Amino acid sequence: MENKLIVGVIGLGMGNAHLKAAIACGAEIEAICDTNPSRLKTVGEEQNIPAEKQYTDWHDLLTNKKINAVIIASPDQLHREMCEAFVDAGVHIMCEKPLALCREDLDAIIAAANRSNKKFMVGQICRFTPAFVKAKEIIDAGTIGELYYVESEYAHDYQKMLSSVQKHWRSDPIRHGVVGGGCHAVDLLRWYAGDPEEVFAYGSHKLLPMVPYDDATVTILKFPNGICGKVFVSTGCKRPYTMRTQLWGTKGTILCDNTSDHMTLWTVDEDGVSLKSEPEIITIDINNHNAQKEFEVFADCVLKDKPVAMDALQGAMTVEVCLSIVKSSEVGTPIRPNYKF
Ligand SMILES: NC(=O)c1ccc[n+]([C@@H]2O[C@H](COP(=O)([O-])OP(=O)(O)OC[C@H]3O[C@@H](n4cnc5c(N)ncnc54)[C@H](O)[C@@H]3O)[C@@H](O)[C@H]2O)c1
Repeated sequence: MENKLIVGVIGLGMGNAHLKAAIACGAEIEAICDTNPSRLKTVGEEQNIPAEKQYTDWHDLLTNKKINAVIIASPDQLHREMCEAFVDAGVHIMCEKPLALCREDLDAIIAAANRSNKKFMVGQICRFTPAFVKAKEIIDAGTIGELYYVESEYAHDYQKMLSSVQKHWRSDPIRHGVVGGGCHAVDLLRWYAGDPEEVFAYGSHKLLPMVPYDDATVTILKFPNGICGKVFVSTGCKRPYTMRTQLWGTKGTILCDNTSDHMTLWTVDEDGVSLKSEPEIITIDINNHNAQKEFEVFADCVLKDKPVAMDALQGAMTVEVCLSIVKSSEVGTPIRPNYKF
């Protein structure tokens, strides 16, 4: 078992947040890596990482035997190759969401993770977002009774990002918005309501002409135990980023968002039936990229040899639901996700 994390970070966009979190947790930074030399230099200077620990080729991290954990925050298309290589290098891995973009890559990553005796965590960061964590606590405490309907969304305008002269990796045909960003909302509902048994989706394409896929998709989901749900994904929306989420139970209802400083909790009176006249308004920290908590959990699993809740299989199951949604919107029929990996 490791007594200290000695970390390499690959990809310094979102990876920069992981880097800061790792430093704050007392991890040793052995390498940072990005193919963009100016980004690499800027981040290196900001975080006081010496030039000899700055790399433009991630393969160089594989042969650095000091590194015992790697953060993979490269474009989604590269996750598979990097995950497989670092499993075989024998290091602990935290890989950004979505774990991969197609079933073949998911299968390959699961096969790799299964032959590893190191930790493998997928960065589904909404499981650390204060509002969503609070909602999970309220549900688990039984405060809103039994869930019967759950709803979430991922509405994030990619227009500016995708309009640059250089082709962006997010406009790759394989990087459908439901998989790339919508995986946040899908994963959140899986966390609350279980693994969807069937999904049925419709898409539309009116906002992002530069991408070959729908920029809005609405999905109805059938969860276990008679719970039904809905996920809405819009990657061209004309409004600020939001993941408005509604969790409806037999004794109450939670309304929350990752970009709101409060959440609303409606509950029933002691008679168990009549609605209280006022809801409880719960103050919440807005922290929709809680990389700090995420890294703390990863470090805890590695250093104390604890099981990883959000492991490769869970990451793959979330993407499998997303792929089923995309397929349903294409073929026009309900699809049952295949969780056999
Ligand atoms: N958890 C979240 O909320 C969240 C938010 C944003 C992005 N993400 C995920 O994080 C990952 C990165 O996204 P981003 O927004 O930081 O993208 P980004 O484009 O801002 O950053 C990616 C970085 O990776 C670098 N890169 C590209 N190819 C590389 C290679 N072969 N080796 C090393 N570096 C390479 C690029 O130069 C770039 O600096 C993606 O998987 C994305 O889906 C997660």
